[in-house]
Amino acid sequence: MANTDLFDLSDFAKMTNSDSDSDNENSKNNNDQVFDEKTVEINQKSIKIREFHYSTTNAGYIWPATFTMADYISKNIQVFNNKKIIELGSATGILSIYLKQIGLNVTASDYNDPEIQENIEYNSKLNDIHFNYIPHSWGEEFPKEKNDFDIVIASDILLYVSHFDKLISTLKQLMDERKDSFLLISYKRKMSNVRIFFDLMMKNGFQYETVGQRIWILRKSDNIDLKNPPSLHFEGDNNDEEDEN
Ligand SMILES: C[S@@+](CC[C@H](N)C(=O)[O-])C[C@H]1O[C@@H](n2cnc3c(N)ncnc32)[C@H](O)[C@@H]1O
Repeated sequence: MANTDLFDLSDFAKMTNSDSDSDNENSKNNNDQVFDEKTVEINQKSIKIREFHYSTTNAGYIWPATFTMADYISKNIQVFNNKKIIELGSATGILSIYLKQIGLNVTASDYNDPEIQENIEYNSKLNDIHFNYIPHSWGEEFPKEKNDFDIVIASDILLYVSHFDKLISTLKQLMDERKDSFLLISYKRKMSNVRIFFDLMMKNGFQYETVGQRIWILRKSDNIDLKNPPSLHFEGDNNDEEDEN
């Protein structure tokens, strides 16, 4: 099992956005894992997902920024058509499954952890969808022969401040050699984490643009003075350090 910071698991029930009414009926206990299979609606697509009741990596559940991301991509589909997309922190695979359903070329990725990979494969089969999956723990060397992506996407992965250096190492490997590539990131939790992450990204030569509520694009910039990166300012950000629910 991958070693990660635990997040406040008590918040999961309220964050999961499911239209299913059969969650509890479908609960099963298999090898100590209790799970539900539910149907989630995203922009009129029905997606079947197996979620675990407990997951040490947080990969067993659907997180709320998934829906922000799915919505943004659907509304701006022309930017993503014919592009090679990699999703970091794919967890249950729901976003990658949805993006495949709307015709995009997406590869999923998460910790190098058999349990996560098995669940993503299970969920993709449930939906009759196939996509590539690359097990990759942030900070490790990304397999060079597979490193060929135009766009990196990630929803709700800024929970782990202590992993930011590793995450940025992975992002640089994926994006450094590609001038036009960008990271699309959505996050529905603490703005303080976003600030720390963006600050580190600017120190690494990235600039950010707010493209919607709690969704941003970051791309490499030649204009950033790495010794003196610009300070952060979020429009409408009242220094609210609390979680947004
Ligand atoms: C809070 S979950 C978000 C899941 C999904 N993107 C969503 O919105 O439903 C964060 C994801 O990041 C992955 N993750 C956290 N730290 C990681 C690391 N060091 N390397 C690879 N993946 C990591 C977790 O396994 C988990 O799937």
